[in-house]
Amino acid sequence: MAMASLRVTLRNLGSTRRSLQTRIFPSAVRSIATSLSPPSRAVVYEQHGPPDQVTRVIELAPVEIKENDVCVKMLASPINPSDINRIEGVYPVRPPVPAIGGYEGVGEVHALGSAVSNLAVGDWVIPSPPSSGLWQTYVVKEQSVWLKINKDVPMEYAATITVNPLTALLMLEDFVKLNSGDTIVQNGATSIVGQCIIQLAKVHGIKSINIIRDRVGSEEVKEKLKRLGANEVYTESQLEVKNVKNLLGDLPEPALGFNCIGGNAASLVLRFLRQRGTMVTYGGMSKKPITVSTSSFIFKDLALRGFWLQKWMSTERANECRPMIDYLLSLVQSGKLKYEMELSPFHDFSLALDKALGKLGSHPKQVIKF
Ligand SMILES: NC(=O)c1ccc[n+]([C@@H]2O[C@H](COP(=O)([O-])OP(=O)(O)OC[C@H]3O[C@@H](n4cnc5c(N)ncnc54)[C@H](OP(=O)(O)O)[C@@H]3O)[C@@H](O)[C@H]2O)c1
Repeated sequence: MAMASLRVTLRNLGSTRRSLQTRIFPSAVRSIATSLSPPSRAVVYEQHGPPDQVTRVIELAPVEIKENDVCVKMLASPINPSDINRIEGVYPVRPPVPAIGGYEGVGEVHALGSAVSNLAVGDWVIPSPPSSGLWQTYVVKEQSVWLKINKDVPMEYAATITVNPLTALLMLEDFVKLNSGDTIVQNGATSIVGQCIIQLAKVHGIKSINIIRDRVGSEEVKEKLKRLGANEVYTESQLEVKNVKNLLGDLPEPALGFNCIGGNAASLVLRFLRQRGTMVTYGGMSKKPITVSTSSFIFKDLALRGFWLQKWMSTERANECRPMIDYLLSLVQSGKLKYEMELSPFHDFSLALDKALGKLGSHPKQVIKF
Protein backbone atom coordinates (compact mmCIF):
# COMPACT_ATOMS: atom_id res chain seq x y z
CA MET A 1 0.00 0.00 0.00
CA ALA A 2 1.53 3.34 -0.99
CA MET A 3 1.73 5.73 1.95
CA ALA A 4 0.04 8.40 -0.08
CA SER A 5 -3.05 6.25 -0.21
CA LEU A 6 -2.97 5.99 3.58
CA ARG A 7 -3.30 9.71 4.02
CA VAL A 8 -6.55 11.49 4.56
CA THR A 9 -8.03 12.96 1.52
CA LEU A 10 -11.61 11.90 1.62
CA ARG A 11 -12.67 12.28 5.22
CA ASN A 12 -15.03 15.17 4.65
CA LEU A 13 -16.02 14.06 1.20
CA GLY A 14 -16.89 10.57 2.50
CA SER A 15 -19.19 11.69 5.29
CA THR A 16 -20.76 14.49 3.23
CA ARG A 17 -21.48 12.05 0.43
CA ARG A 18 -23.08 9.57 2.82
CA SER A 19 -25.26 12.08 4.62
CA LEU A 20 -26.41 13.57 1.32
CA GLN A 21 -27.30 10.15 -0.04
CA THR A 22 -29.16 9.34 3.17
CA ARG A 23 -31.17 12.48 2.98
CA ILE A 24 -31.93 12.40 -0.75
CA PHE A 25 -32.22 8.67 -1.53
CA PRO A 26 -33.24 6.87 1.71
CA SER A 27 -33.92 3.62 -0.15
CA ALA A 28 -30.39 3.61 -1.51
CA VAL A 29 -28.81 3.84 1.93
CA ARG A 30 -27.85 0.19 2.28
CA SER A 31 -26.03 -0.10 -1.02
CA ILE A 32 -24.26 3.22 -0.67
CA ALA A 33 -23.42 2.77 3.02
CA THR A 34 -22.05 -0.71 2.46
CA SER A 35 -19.88 0.23 -0.50
CA LEU A 36 -17.54 2.58 1.28
CA SER A 37 -16.23 2.52 4.86
CA PRO A 38 -16.10 5.69 6.94
CA PRO A 39 -12.67 7.31 7.05
CA SER A 40 -10.51 5.79 9.78
CA ARG A 41 -7.90 6.97 12.29
CA ALA A 42 -5.04 4.51 12.53
CA VAL A 43 -1.71 3.86 14.23
CA VAL A 44 0.74 3.37 11.36
CA TYR A 45 4.47 2.81 10.99
CA GLU A 46 6.39 3.34 7.78
CA GLN A 47 9.59 1.69 8.97
CA HIS A 48 10.60 -0.73 11.70
CA GLY A 49 12.20 0.65 14.84
CA PRO A 50 11.43 1.74 18.41
CA PRO A 51 7.60 1.84 18.54
CA ASP A 52 7.49 5.18 20.35
CA GLN A 53 9.53 6.69 17.53
CA VAL A 54 8.17 5.08 14.37
CA THR A 55 4.41 5.01 15.04
CA ARG A 56 2.01 7.89 14.51
CA VAL A 57 -1.74 8.33 14.33
CA ILE A 58 -3.05 9.44 10.95
CA GLU A 59 -6.37 9.60 9.16
CA LEU A 60 -7.09 7.14 6.37
CA ALA A 61 -9.38 7.56 3.43
CA PRO A 62 -12.54 5.41 3.20
CA VAL A 63 -12.07 2.03 1.53
CA GLU A 64 -14.41 0.00 -0.59
CA ILE A 65 -16.52 -2.64 1.18
CA LYS A 66 -16.64 -5.52 -1.30
CA GLU A 67 -19.49 -8.00 -1.41
CA ASN A 68 -17.87 -10.46 1.07
CA ASP A 69 -16.42 -7.77 3.33
CA VAL A 70 -17.48 -6.61 6.75
CA CYS A 71 -16.73 -3.10 8.00
CA VAL A 72 -16.13 -3.14 11.74
CA LYS A 73 -16.06 -0.16 14.06
CA MET A 74 -13.30 -1.09 16.49
CA LEU A 75 -14.14 -0.91 20.18
CA ALA A 76 -10.95 -2.07 21.88
CA SER A 77 -7.56 -3.62 21.10
CA PRO A 78 -4.62 -4.45 23.37
CA ILE A 79 -0.95 -3.56 23.05
CA ASN A 80 0.73 -6.95 23.35
CA PRO A 81 4.49 -7.63 23.47
CA SER A 82 4.22 -9.24 20.02
CA ASP A 83 2.70 -6.01 18.61
CA ILE A 84 5.77 -4.20 19.88
CA ASN A 85 8.08 -6.82 18.37
CA ARG A 86 6.29 -6.58 15.00
CA ILE A 87 6.82 -2.81 14.93
CA GLU A 88 10.45 -3.25 16.02
CA GLY A 89 10.88 -5.62 13.08
CA VAL A 90 12.15 -8.48 15.26
CA TYR A 91 9.07 -10.72 15.05
CA PRO A 92 9.49 -13.67 12.66
CA VAL A 93 6.24 -12.88 10.83
CA ARG A 94 5.29 -9.25 10.34
CA PRO A 95 3.26 -7.25 7.85
CA PRO A 96 5.23 -5.35 5.21
CA VAL A 97 5.63 -1.62 5.91
CA PRO A 98 3.91 0.76 5.79
CA ALA A 99 1.60 -1.06 8.16
CA ILE A 100 -1.11 -0.50 10.72
CA GLY A 101 -0.38 -1.91 14.20
CA GLY A 102 -2.53 -4.26 16.28
CA TYR A 103 -3.33 -7.96 15.98
CA GLU A 104 -6.34 -8.73 18.17
CA GLY A 105 -9.34 -6.75 19.36
CA VAL A 106 -13.11 -6.49 19.33
CA GLY A 107 -15.38 -4.34 17.23
CA GLU A 108 -18.99 -3.78 16.31
CA VAL A 109 -20.25 -4.55 12.82
CA HIS A 110 -20.81 -1.21 11.11
CA ALA A 111 -21.70 -2.26 7.56
CA LEU A 112 -21.93 -5.44 5.51
CA GLY A 113 -21.00 -6.34 1.97
CA SER A 114 -23.95 -7.36 -0.16
CA ALA A 115 -23.15 -11.12 0.07
CA VAL A 116 -22.73 -11.29 3.84
CA SER A 117 -25.68 -12.88 5.61
CA ASN A 118 -24.24 -14.44 8.78
CA LEU A 119 -23.68 -11.13 10.60
CA ALA A 120 -25.81 -8.10 11.37
CA VAL A 121 -25.03 -4.47 12.00
CA GLY A 122 -24.33 -4.06 15.74
CA ASP A 123 -22.93 -7.59 16.28
CA TRP A 124 -19.70 -7.84 18.25
CA VAL A 125 -16.92 -9.60 16.36
CA ILE A 126 -13.29 -10.53 16.89
CA PRO A 127 -10.84 -11.64 14.20
CA SER A 128 -10.30 -15.35 14.65
CA PRO A 129 -7.49 -16.27 14.08
CA PRO A 130 -6.12 -12.83 15.01
CA SER A 131 -5.36 -10.56 12.11
CA SER A 132 -3.06 -7.59 11.58
CA GLY A 133 -4.01 -3.92 11.23
CA LEU A 134 -6.54 -3.55 14.05
CA TRP A 135 -5.33 -0.31 15.63
CA GLN A 136 -7.75 1.82 13.69
CA THR A 137 -11.25 3.08 14.18
CA TYR A 138 -12.79 1.22 11.19
CA VAL A 139 -11.46 -2.06 9.80
CA VAL A 140 -12.64 -3.69 6.58
CA LYS A 141 -11.86 -7.40 6.20
CA GLU A 142 -13.52 -10.44 4.61
CA GLN A 143 -16.36 -12.03 6.56
CA SER A 144 -14.35 -15.26 7.07
CA VAL A 145 -11.96 -13.30 9.32
CA TRP A 146 -14.65 -12.43 11.84
CA LEU A 147 -16.15 -14.49 14.66
CA LYS A 148 -19.38 -13.26 16.21
CA ILE A 149 -19.29 -13.27 20.01
CA ASN A 150 -21.86 -12.61 22.70
CA LYS A 151 -21.95 -9.17 24.24
CA ASP A 152 -22.11 -10.56 27.77
CA VAL A 153 -18.45 -9.94 28.64
CA PRO A 154 -16.73 -6.56 29.08
CA MET A 155 -15.24 -5.33 25.81
CA GLU A 156 -11.67 -5.43 27.13
CA TYR A 157 -11.99 -9.18 27.67
CA ALA A 158 -13.48 -9.74 24.23
CA ALA A 159 -10.56 -7.71 22.85
CA THR A 160 -7.91 -9.81 24.58
CA ILE A 161 -9.36 -13.31 24.71
CA THR A 162 -7.38 -14.85 21.88
CA VAL A 163 -3.64 -14.25 22.05
CA ASN A 164 -2.88 -14.70 25.74
CA PRO A 165 -5.71 -16.79 27.26
CA LEU A 166 -5.62 -19.23 24.32
CA THR A 167 -1.85 -19.56 24.66
CA ALA A 168 -2.28 -20.39 28.36
CA LEU A 169 -4.97 -22.98 27.62
CA LEU A 170 -3.02 -24.68 24.84
CA MET A 171 0.22 -24.81 26.79
CA LEU A 172 -1.53 -26.44 29.74
CA GLU A 173 -3.07 -29.07 27.47
CA ASP A 174 -0.47 -29.83 24.83
CA PHE A 175 2.85 -30.72 26.46
CA VAL A 176 2.41 -32.87 29.56
CA LYS A 177 -0.66 -34.78 30.63
CA LEU A 178 -1.60 -33.17 33.90
CA ASN A 179 -3.99 -34.61 36.46
CA SER A 180 -5.87 -32.94 39.25
CA GLY A 181 -3.45 -32.42 42.16
CA ASP A 182 -0.36 -31.96 39.91
CA THR A 183 1.71 -28.79 40.09
CA ILE A 184 3.07 -26.41 37.45
CA VAL A 185 5.70 -23.71 37.91
CA GLN A 186 5.98 -20.49 35.92
CA ASN A 187 7.80 -17.19 35.76
CA GLY A 188 6.26 -13.95 34.46
CA ALA A 189 3.22 -14.74 36.59
CA THR A 190 1.97 -11.14 36.46
CA SER A 191 1.61 -11.28 32.67
CA ILE A 192 -1.83 -11.92 31.20
CA VAL A 193 -0.69 -15.38 30.10
CA GLY A 194 0.61 -15.98 33.63
CA GLN A 195 -2.64 -14.87 35.26
CA CYS A 196 -4.59 -17.12 32.88
CA ILE A 197 -2.33 -20.10 33.59
CA ILE A 198 -3.00 -19.71 37.33
CA GLN A 199 -6.77 -19.67 36.84
CA LEU A 200 -7.05 -22.30 34.11
CA ALA A 201 -4.86 -24.61 36.18
CA LYS A 202 -7.11 -24.02 39.17
CA VAL A 203 -10.23 -24.87 37.16
CA HIS A 204 -8.65 -28.31 36.57
CA GLY A 205 -7.45 -28.79 40.14
CA ILE A 206 -3.80 -28.12 39.22
CA LYS A 207 -1.64 -26.18 41.66
CA SER A 208 0.71 -23.40 40.62
CA ILE A 209 4.06 -22.07 41.83
CA ASN A 210 4.59 -18.58 40.52
CA ILE A 211 7.70 -16.43 40.15
CA ILE A 212 7.57 -12.65 39.80
CA ARG A 213 10.19 -9.93 39.42
CA ASP A 214 11.44 -8.14 42.50
CA ARG A 215 9.57 -4.86 42.60
CA VAL A 216 8.16 -2.23 44.88
CA GLY A 217 4.82 -3.50 46.15
CA SER A 218 5.62 -7.19 45.55
CA GLU A 219 3.60 -8.28 48.62
CA GLU A 220 0.50 -6.66 47.13
CA VAL A 221 1.16 -8.36 43.78
CA LYS A 222 1.54 -11.71 45.53
CA GLU A 223 -1.79 -11.24 47.26
CA LYS A 224 -3.50 -10.38 43.96
CA LEU A 225 -2.14 -13.53 42.31
CA LYS A 226 -3.17 -15.63 45.30
CA ARG A 227 -6.67 -14.23 45.04
CA LEU A 228 -6.69 -15.53 41.44
CA GLY A 229 -5.80 -18.99 42.76
CA ALA A 230 -1.98 -19.06 42.87
CA ASN A 231 -0.78 -21.53 45.50
CA GLU A 232 2.68 -20.02 45.95
CA VAL A 233 4.19 -16.78 44.68
CA TYR A 234 7.90 -15.97 45.06
CA THR A 235 10.03 -13.08 43.97
CA GLU A 236 13.22 -14.08 42.17
CA SER A 237 15.38 -12.98 45.10
CA GLN A 238 13.39 -15.17 47.52
CA LEU A 239 14.47 -18.16 45.47
CA GLU A 240 18.19 -17.49 45.89
CA VAL A 241 18.34 -20.46 48.27
CA LYS A 242 20.37 -23.65 48.10
CA ASN A 243 17.45 -25.95 47.37
CA VAL A 244 14.17 -24.47 46.11
CA LYS A 245 12.53 -27.87 46.56
CA ASN A 246 12.54 -27.24 50.31
CA LEU A 247 9.91 -24.58 49.62
CA LEU A 248 7.46 -27.04 48.07
CA GLY A 249 5.87 -28.18 51.34
CA ASP A 250 2.95 -30.46 50.44
CA LEU A 251 3.00 -29.58 46.74
CA PRO A 252 4.22 -32.32 44.39
CA GLU A 253 7.32 -31.49 42.31
CA PRO A 254 6.15 -29.88 39.07
CA ALA A 255 6.36 -31.88 35.86
CA LEU A 256 5.72 -28.81 33.73
CA GLY A 257 7.12 -25.28 33.79
CA PHE A 258 6.48 -22.18 31.69
CA ASN A 259 9.03 -19.52 30.87
CA CYS A 260 8.30 -16.15 29.25
CA ILE A 261 11.24 -14.24 30.75
CA GLY A 262 14.57 -16.05 30.16
CA GLY A 263 17.82 -15.50 32.09
CA ASN A 264 17.73 -16.18 35.83
CA ALA A 265 13.92 -16.44 35.86
CA ALA A 266 14.14 -19.41 33.46
CA SER A 267 16.82 -21.09 35.59
CA LEU A 268 14.51 -20.81 38.59
CA VAL A 269 11.72 -22.61 36.73
CA LEU A 270 14.17 -25.39 35.83
CA ARG A 271 15.29 -25.74 39.43
CA PHE A 272 11.72 -26.53 40.52
CA LEU A 273 11.11 -29.21 37.87
CA ARG A 274 11.11 -32.86 38.78
CA GLN A 275 13.07 -35.61 37.02
CA ARG A 276 12.15 -35.64 33.29
CA GLY A 277 10.22 -32.40 33.72
CA THR A 278 9.47 -30.15 30.74
CA MET A 279 9.95 -26.41 30.48
CA VAL A 280 7.98 -24.66 27.72
CA THR A 281 9.38 -21.31 26.61
CA TYR A 282 6.89 -18.95 24.99
CA GLY A 283 8.41 -15.49 25.54
CA GLY A 284 11.67 -13.75 26.30
CA MET A 285 10.75 -10.55 28.12
CA SER A 286 14.20 -10.04 29.71
CA LYS A 287 15.89 -10.61 26.32
CA LYS A 288 18.38 -12.83 28.17
CA PRO A 289 19.25 -16.36 27.03
CA ILE A 290 18.26 -19.54 28.85
CA THR A 291 21.14 -21.33 30.52
CA VAL A 292 20.77 -24.99 31.44
CA SER A 293 23.38 -26.68 33.57
CA THR A 294 24.96 -29.80 32.14
CA SER A 295 24.10 -31.69 35.32
CA SER A 296 20.38 -30.92 35.06
CA PHE A 297 20.34 -32.30 31.53
CA ILE A 298 22.25 -35.43 32.54
CA PHE A 299 20.86 -36.15 35.97
CA LYS A 300 17.33 -34.74 35.63
CA ASP A 301 16.85 -35.49 31.92
CA LEU A 302 14.93 -32.24 31.46
CA ALA A 303 13.10 -31.43 28.23
CA LEU A 304 13.05 -27.92 26.77
CA ARG A 305 10.20 -27.12 24.42
CA GLY A 306 8.80 -24.01 22.75
CA PHE A 307 5.31 -22.74 21.93
CA TRP A 308 4.20 -20.21 19.34
CA LEU A 309 0.49 -19.52 18.90
CA GLN A 310 0.90 -18.18 15.37
CA LYS A 311 2.48 -21.48 14.29
CA TRP A 312 -0.30 -23.43 16.03
CA MET A 313 -2.82 -21.29 14.13
CA SER A 314 -1.33 -22.54 10.86
CA THR A 315 -1.85 -26.22 11.74
CA GLU A 316 -4.96 -28.28 11.09
CA ARG A 317 -5.83 -27.81 14.77
CA ALA A 318 -6.53 -24.12 14.15
CA ASN A 319 -10.21 -24.93 13.62
CA GLU A 320 -10.37 -25.84 17.34
CA CYS A 321 -9.64 -22.18 18.08
CA ARG A 322 -13.20 -20.89 17.90
CA PRO A 323 -14.77 -23.36 20.39
CA MET A 324 -11.81 -22.72 22.69
CA ILE A 325 -12.50 -18.99 22.54
CA ASP A 326 -16.15 -19.63 23.37
CA TYR A 327 -14.98 -21.71 26.34
CA LEU A 328 -12.62 -18.98 27.54
CA LEU A 329 -15.33 -16.32 27.17
CA SER A 330 -17.70 -18.52 29.17
CA LEU A 331 -15.11 -18.64 31.97
CA VAL A 332 -14.88 -14.83 31.86
CA GLN A 333 -18.64 -14.60 31.94
CA SER A 334 -18.87 -16.87 34.98
CA GLY A 335 -16.12 -14.96 36.81
CA LYS A 336 -13.62 -17.84 36.69
CA LEU A 337 -11.18 -16.01 34.41
CA LYS A 338 -10.10 -12.43 35.03
CA TYR A 339 -6.94 -10.44 34.54
CA GLU A 340 -5.75 -6.93 35.11
CA MET A 341 -6.10 -4.43 32.27
CA GLU A 342 -6.13 -0.67 31.89
CA LEU A 343 -8.40 0.84 29.25
CA SER A 344 -6.67 3.80 27.59
CA PRO A 345 -8.50 6.20 25.26
CA PHE A 346 -7.24 6.16 21.67
CA HIS A 347 -6.31 9.83 21.88
CA ASP A 348 -3.80 8.86 24.62
CA PHE A 349 -2.23 6.16 22.46
CA SER A 350 1.34 7.37 22.96
CA LEU A 351 0.96 7.29 26.77
CA ALA A 352 -0.49 3.77 26.60
CA LEU A 353 2.41 2.75 24.36
CA ASP A 354 4.96 4.14 26.82
CA LYS A 355 3.30 2.13 29.59
CA ALA A 356 3.29 -1.02 27.43
CA LEU A 357 6.97 -0.45 26.62
CA GLY A 358 7.77 -0.41 30.36
CA LYS A 359 9.05 3.18 30.15
CA LEU A 360 6.88 4.14 33.13
CA GLY A 361 7.48 1.05 35.31
CA SER A 362 5.14 -1.94 35.61
CA HIS A 363 1.59 -1.32 34.42
CA PRO A 364 -1.37 -3.59 33.71
CA LYS A 365 -1.98 -4.61 30.10
CA GLN A 366 -2.84 -1.52 28.05
CA VAL A 367 -6.05 -1.87 26.04
CA ILE A 368 -6.88 0.92 23.60
CA LYS A 369 -10.49 2.04 23.73
CA PHE A 370 -11.50 3.52 20.38
N1 LIG B 1 4.62 -17.72 22.00
C1 LIG B 1 3.36 -17.29 21.89
O1 LIG B 1 2.59 -17.76 21.06
C2 LIG B 1 2.90 -16.20 22.80
C3 LIG B 1 1.54 -15.88 22.89
C4 LIG B 1 1.16 -14.90 23.81
C5 LIG B 1 2.12 -14.25 24.55
N2 LIG B 1 3.43 -14.57 24.37
C6 LIG B 1 4.49 -13.94 25.17
O2 LIG B 1 4.14 -14.08 26.51
C7 LIG B 1 4.76 -13.06 27.25
C8 LIG B 1 3.71 -12.41 28.12
O3 LIG B 1 2.76 -11.75 27.28
P1 LIG B 1 1.54 -10.94 27.94
O4 LIG B 1 0.85 -10.20 26.88
O5 LIG B 1 0.78 -11.90 28.77
O6 LIG B 1 2.37 -9.96 28.89
P2 LIG B 1 1.86 -8.63 29.57
O7 LIG B 1 0.53 -8.86 30.20
O8 LIG B 1 2.04 -7.52 28.61
O9 LIG B 1 2.92 -8.50 30.76
C9 LIG B 1 4.29 -8.34 30.53
C10 LIG B 1 5.03 -9.26 31.49
O10 LIG B 1 6.43 -9.21 31.22
C11 LIG B 1 7.13 -8.85 32.44
N3 LIG B 1 8.27 -8.07 32.01
C12 LIG B 1 8.26 -6.98 31.21
N4 LIG B 1 9.52 -6.57 30.98
C13 LIG B 1 10.34 -7.41 31.66
C14 LIG B 1 11.75 -7.52 31.82
N5 LIG B 1 12.59 -6.66 31.22
N6 LIG B 1 12.24 -8.51 32.59
C15 LIG B 1 11.43 -9.37 33.20
N7 LIG B 1 10.07 -9.35 33.07
C16 LIG B 1 9.54 -8.38 32.31
C17 LIG B 1 6.11 -8.07 33.25
O11 LIG B 1 6.48 -8.13 34.60
P3 LIG B 1 6.04 -6.99 35.64
O12 LIG B 1 4.61 -7.24 35.99
O13 LIG B 1 6.95 -7.23 36.78
O14 LIG B 1 6.24 -5.66 34.96
C18 LIG B 1 4.85 -8.86 32.96
O15 LIG B 1 4.81 -10.05 33.71
C19 LIG B 1 5.41 -12.13 26.23
O16 LIG B 1 6.77 -12.46 26.12
C20 LIG B 1 4.67 -12.46 24.95
O17 LIG B 1 5.43 -12.17 23.81
C21 LIG B 1 3.83 -15.52 23.53
